Amino acid sequence: MSSLKIHVNSPRVEYTAEAILAEYDYQTMKVARAGDDSAPAYEVVPESTKLLIKTDIKVPKLGVMLVGWGGNNGTTITAALLANKLKLSWETKDGVKRANWYGSLIEASTVRLGSDGVEDVYVPISWMLPMVNPDDIELDGWDISDMNLADAMERAKVLDINLQKQLRPHMRGLKPRKSLYFPDFIAANQESRANNLISGTKKQQLEAIRKDIRDFKALKKLDKVIVLWTANTERFADILPGVNDTADNLLKSIDESHPEISPSTVFAVASALEACTYLNGSPQNTFVPGAIELAERLNTFIGGDDFKSGQTKIKSVLVDFLVSAGIKPVSIVSYNHLGNNDGYNLSAPQQFRSKEISKSNVVDDMVQSNKVLYKDGEKPDHCVVIKYVPYVGDSKRAMDEYTSEILLNGHNTIVVHNTCEDSLLASPIILDLVLLSEICSRMSFKRAEQPDSEYRCFRSVLSILSYLLKAPLVPQGTPVVNALFKQRCAIENVLKACVGIPPENHMLLEHKVD
Ligand code: NAI
Repeated sequence: MSSLKIHVNSPRVEYTAEAILAEYDYQTMKVARAGDDSAPAYEVVPESTKLLIKTDIKVPKLGVMLVGWGGNNGTTITAALLANKLKLSWETKDGVKRANWYGSLIEASTVRLGSDGVEDVYVPISWMLPMVNPDDIELDGWDISDMNLADAMERAKVLDINLQKQLRPHMRGLKPRKSLYFPDFIAANQESRANNLISGTKKQQLEAIRKDIRDFKALKKLDKVIVLWTANTERFADILPGVNDTADNLLKSIDESHPEISPSTVFAVASALEACTYLNGSPQNTFVPGAIELAERLNTFIGGDDFKSGQTKIKSVLVDFLVSAGIKPVSIVSYNHLGNNDGYNLSAPQQFRSKEISKSNVVDDMVQSNKVLYKDGEKPDHCVVIKYVPYVGDSKRAMDEYTSEILLNGHNTIVVHNTCEDSLLASPIILDLVLLSEICSRMSFKRAEQPDSEYRCFRSVLSILSYLLKAPLVPQGTPVVNALFKQRCAIENVLKACVGIPPENHMLLEHKVD
């Protein structure tokens, strides 16, 4: 028995000092259309691929660098990491509260391992494989505002005051590194914050960020650094031939300080060049084709776009439920108002447009999956409104109206009103993105019929992160999945595959058949 929390006793799973090696039957279906439009029919051929999956078990010393460290999300995830590590508790009007990781898929949700003969056995997802312990993560980051993290936490107005008081001494010494401010990319209303800036040409700025990453890695003696953008939403960058369409053109455009290269793309390039995973928590198209090609060329990982925290999470559950129940959503209208700095930035049209685009395609896969309800190309009306209302601060309001057609021209309207501190939803997602992308970078695969071939890692674009992201980035030509439980199953089943456990099938035949 190894020291791992889960040990699978199977001749097809081997534990060595360095890795877990699992032999795995990956089953898919090949489908061919047999009939024509008047009499459609399909032929289905089950296929099984024998895979060898290797997971390195050495847990690296991990550093995380946040772009936008002094923002609401940046300060809240910092506070959450510290509060959990220090096991803080604090008094509130509702009694004493203790630090937790509620909202984190990895730390606070469970998977079913099987049954002990009497009842089902569930364990936290973090037990499935040797993952980084959040308490051991080293944090650093950049912000265009030079405010220390304690004052920035106060500015964010997210956390209970008695928690803030305890965290203050631990956070006031944390100061964001200087960052990139290209006024054309974020709202003009952010200008007054921008007092902590790297000057010079874009090439010099890129090199400064690369040096920051190297310095942090050396200072904290880290094995690995992950960079995550939680700074303000930028406008979309134009994709210009010769400018950002290929890796070489992108590097050349940075050398030439081309105006269409955004700060976030410079961070993505710096991360790739420093062999770091780069994750994008905002909606903008940081990953222009050149940035994706660069990550692929350098075999680094990228993930994006836009944290899937509240309204979209519900949408990707509710529409999945409706469509898979045979009910036809025909109109989805979403209103948001919020009063934090993110909302202020989004009150500018170009930045709102980035968010609108990111929120607009989130039901496409569910709609396309059901041709009984929707003809080719048919979609529900889908409208998204975001308004800035300072008084509500970080406590975002999201109101959604789903109108659906039901049997024989009946109508069903569901209205959801969601009130929630935005940053308390986003921060556990930041943790999950980091932990999941890190463990994925230690997995590799090969076909059992080619035992002499090299193990290959996941492709650069980590589509397995889709559960955590509103507009999931996937490798070109591969399907985008928005439906939340499919996304969750993908994570759960991949983690299980690494220890040779088959996908959860929910059939419970042992209880249904004698
Ligand atoms: P925030 O406005 O409180 O924080 C953003 C921080 O980024 C600010 O401190 C700002 O000074 C800094 N910043 C702006 N440009 C920068 C740059 N080029 N380099 C370094 N720092 C820069 O916003 P919040 O609420 O923390 O949200 C952050 C991002 O996460 C936004 O883009 C938002 O749309 C996105 N997001 C947030 C969700 C949530 O639930 N909180 C959900 C989905 C996305």
